[in-house]
Amino acid sequence: MIQRPAIRTAPILGLLLTLCPGMLTGQAQQWNAERSPLLVAHRGASAYAPEHTIEAYTLALAQGADFLEPDLQITRDGVLIALHDLTLERTTNVQEVFPDRFREEDAGGMMVRRWYAVDFTLAEIRQLDAGSWFGPQFTGATIPTLEELIELARGRAGIFPETKTPEFYREEGLEMEAILVDLLRRSGLLEPEGLRETPVILQSFSPGSLMVLRDALGETLPLTLLIGNLEGAEQWLTETGLDEAQGFSDGIGPNKNLVLADPGMVRRAQSRGLFVIPYTFRSSNSGTFPDVGAEMDYFLYTLGVDGVFTDNPDLFPRQPREGGPLPQSPL
Ligand code: G3P
Ligand code: CA
Repeated sequence: MIQRPAIRTAPILGLLLTLCPGMLTGQAQQWNAERSPLLVAHRGASAYAPEHTIEAYTLALAQGADFLEPDLQITRDGVLIALHDLTLERTTNVQEVFPDRFREEDAGGMMVRRWYAVDFTLAEIRQLDAGSWFGPQFTGATIPTLEELIELARGRAGIFPETKTPEFYREEGLEMEAILVDLLRRSGLLEPEGLRETPVILQSFSPGSLMVLRDALGETLPLTLLIGNLEGAEQWLTETGLDEAQGFSDGIGPNKNLVLADPGMVRRAQSRGLFVIPYTFRSSNSGTFPDVGAEMDYFLYTLGVDGVFTDNPDLFPRQPREGGPLPQSPL
């Protein structure tokens, strides 16, 4: 069985303190002492409320999230919104409100209709119900802007935004990274004082997007390379891949299945100074573990990752479970 490592300060906190001089006071100091490793609320407390809504993020704060995670999309008028998909039909009633505003696409020989967020202004997106699909008690919930999410988090938690499919937006004439950097600057989140209140970590599956952000920001904010299950993804977890990732990123966010398949990657990454925050831990899918709390415990206190993205912030174990690690062999 893998030995449980001693509880330690996550490298990411040391990194935040290095990158943001002055953070060693107040809230950050409290996190350093009490809040290691990191609880990142994935799309808010999205197991209990519709993802990417103020309702889900407010609940995540109440459940003790260290960071709120939004995916980013862009409206036709250039506003960053919190939304996972490029299109609106999975999580809103866009088909009822704007029945004719679709693009027709060939999906493997079948024509399908898609309602792209980028084809709608923010004022139009405000008209959509982003809550009913999850449950009638959330009827009327709306898609928030990133700016609104920043104000919700300010002084209460950090934000961990993901630049989602920035290549798509570049083709549409919109530079997601530039819009994001401008908003962070206007919100005071590129200054030590603002970051003391509301730390920011950025993430992307796109190495190119992270490189653009590194060019624009220098080392002001920590960057995270997400590593998914697409063919070849595990190449990033080899010695060579991690060396390359280190050139433009401060940490990695691997799919949890990649970590289970190769637990040694945690130490390989951390020995290079890269933090490791895998995704996504949710009560609806905890694999062979008895529950998602046990799964997170195993990753945090047996494998030693630096934090997790989870839909269930309330089940995040701040301390290792009593009685030692589960005799859980994931392989
Ligand atoms: O950002 C971490 C995780 O959320 C990546 O997957 O598809 O949920 O954005 P996705
Ligand atoms: Ca994400």
